[in-house]
Amino acid sequence: GAPFPVFTRKEVARHNSEESRVWVTYGSDVFDITDFVEVHPGGKSKILLAAGGALEPFWALYAMHKQEHVLEILRGYKVGEL
Ligand code: HEM
Repeated sequence: GAPFPVFTRKEVARHNSEESRVWVTYGSDVFDITDFVEVHPGGKSKILLAAGGALEPFWALYAMHKQEHVLEILRGYKVGEL
């Protein structure tokens, strides 16, 4: 498939609210999860804590995310790479 665009962590960090769209990283992948925020089973306030940055510190605490069905949801929102 076509290669994904490459972003810096600084560019990702600008997407830290619904107004600027909500981006997160996981590994070296970048995701625009704006459309998922409202339907997150853990609530909007929790998922927005990760807005503009890495999911890893949060998912270390909420390890139920490290299962295939969650990672599959995430993959659907991929927009780029670091
Ligand atoms: C639950 C997805 C980010 C906190 C869930 C579930 C999914 C999900 C699918 C249900 C899991 C299950 O029951 O099997 C995502 C995705 C995220 C994300 C795709 C990022 C793009 C976060 C963040 C936090 C968080 C950053 C915390 C700061 C929680 C909590 C639950 C949950 C507390 C449990 C809700 C409950 O069962 O009562 N998330 N999540 N999530 N998530 Fe997330």
